[in-house]
Amino acid sequence: LHRIILDCDPGQDDALAILLALASREEIEVLAITTVAGNVPLPLTSRNARQIVELAGRSDVPVHAGCVRPILRPLETAEYVHGKTGLDGAELPEPRLPLTSGHAVDVIVETLLREPAGTVTLCPTGPLTNIALAMIKEPAIVPRIRQIVLMGGAIELGNTTPAAEFNIYVDPHAAAVVFESGAPIVMHGLDVTHKALVTDERLARIGAIGTPVAKACVGLLGFFNRYDRDRYHIPGAPLHDPCVIAWLIRPELFSGKRCRVEIETEGRHTIGRTVVDWWHRIDQPERPANALVVNDIDADGFFDLLTERLARL
Ligand code: BDR
Ligand code: CA
Repeated sequence: LHRIILDCDPGQDDALAILLALASREEIEVLAITTVAGNVPLPLTSRNARQIVELAGRSDVPVHAGCVRPILRPLETAEYVHGKTGLDGAELPEPRLPLTSGHAVDVIVETLLREPAGTVTLCPTGPLTNIALAMIKEPAIVPRIRQIVLMGGAIELGNTTPAAEFNIYVDPHAAAVVFESGAPIVMHGLDVTHKALVTDERLARIGAIGTPVAKACVGLLGFFNRYDRDRYHIPGAPLHDPCVIAWLIRPELFSGKRCRVEIETEGRHTIGRTVVDWWHRIDQPERPANALVVNDIDADGFFDLLTERLARL
């Protein structure tokens, strides 16, 4: 059983990650959902997370709001992908569930100190601001983290600048703290997520489930598909964030390699780049491999899993 804190910025693909986690009770226990500013500002990511928890009928899962902006840089959002609410495409009622008290950073710290060491996994699917600040606030949490399974970065090209992926670009300083922390990291970057495309056929299979949850997913993903299809001339948007959750449930659907990953925080053209030492060119004991960099997926197996799990909600 993976006991997780899902730290997110919903976002349609974050919403699907939440649903996949909540639908997978045999494999995953969601201890808390924490929100961060990213795709849209914090008040919206915090609202959206609660709408999705309620859609799943899981108002027992606490949602805690976190940081309103990155550590150093001004917040850059992505309404051009996700719409002005962050969850454009579905008509969801305003959440009845209030935010749970406690700042996300404190909840991450307290959970890791309270639970037995090595039992809690962090699943960030937005900028890494909350995770970095938790590590800075209480460094004793770092050796207690089982693993950090995150969506962010790329071996190859970026999607926000030519060099950088959105989550790392938005808060590269936070990403540097996390990647240098020594905690075990599994990185799902664009190399893998751009192989998990929401094609019409896959979307139709989700629609065929016919439940209110499935209908909402079809609306969300239909909207989410527009931007990436136009920009990249691909048959559907990359379903980034659910890769993190699917990896916990079915790691055999994925493959990758352990490498050194460093974060560019200064480059004029390359700020936010994840510099992945795929060919192990760095031979320095003080710069060991710090991440399992995932770069391939059985996309049909992934969508089979997602469709089967959504049908449970
Ligand atoms: C990442 O950025 C966001 O737009 C998505 O939710 C995903 O986490 C992809 O670059
Ligand atoms: Ca996200």
